[in-house]
Amino acid sequence: MARLRKVVFPVAGLGTRFLPATKVVAKEMLPVLDRPLIQYAVDEAVDAGADTLVFVTNRYKHSIADYFDSAYELEETLQRAGKHDLLATVQGLLPPRVRCVYVTQEQALGLGHAVLCARAVVGDEPFGIILPDDLIVNPGGPSALRQMAEFAPDTQAGVLAVEEVPRADTGKYGIVDVEPGGDRIRHMVEKPKPEQAPSNLAVVGRYVLPARIFELLEQTTPGAGGEIQLTDAIAALLGEAPVLAHRFTGTRFDCGNKKGMVRATLHFAAADPELRDLVRTPATDR
Ligand code: G1P
Repeated sequence: MARLRKVVFPVAGLGTRFLPATKVVAKEMLPVLDRPLIQYAVDEAVDAGADTLVFVTNRYKHSIADYFDSAYELEETLQRAGKHDLLATVQGLLPPRVRCVYVTQEQALGLGHAVLCARAVVGDEPFGIILPDDLIVNPGGPSALRQMAEFAPDTQAGVLAVEEVPRADTGKYGIVDVEPGGDRIRHMVEKPKPEQAPSNLAVVGRYVLPARIFELLEQTTPGAGGEIQLTDAIAALLGEAPVLAHRFTGTRFDCGNKKGMVRATLHFAAADPELRDLVRTPATDR
């Protein structure tokens, strides 16, 4: 499978790690330099071929829809002032062929529930999921989601982006057990304690899944943390279809916490000719 038409962005989370800013600013709108986190995620989806972006949102997140909407007064002002570069920037957030759809997650029942809210828009085709907190860069190469779409053997298969994490951190992730010498996932568990984890290979926020996952999500009961977990529905899919672990090429920044945000900012500053001299710490040093 080479192309993904639809990509889901679960963006209804509260962002408590960034309070007080996230009292009024959606965490997906926090900037890394001058671009909000959601822009990096959307660029990745577009690179993977998406033409329909599905945002699973709530009533506190209207700024995401406002951001992708046209801003007539601003554009008119920039036009009259001859600020053509800035005008192109605000008009070019999405290619013209791409449309945004917003669906509401009325209750915070978990990531699996958020994905299920997108079912009516996604319909009966394979789709991608990007968790914007996980910012993944691969300068000059294909984005992580594009790599995964190209890696998927067919439309019934799943592909999850994985990365090795310290053993002590398994409780923060979905952890997979992969067949020896291959890519196929045999077993998957949400946020296991280090001593119970089947490996230290963690799922980071990128998924390519078949539409069958929606039926499995409907049958999924609350799991870790009392939430409807996407991991549990994928674990049920493992017995029916190949689900592959993809060790992506690129660097991930966990922008769900302050350290990751600072590292991402340093990374992009180091690549910016005007800011490079300010950056003294290697940005990818974990
Ligand atoms: C979610 C998933 C988890 C995955 C993680 C990646 O957890 O439930 O399986 O490893 O995203 O960032 P969350 O970070 O929302 O708690």
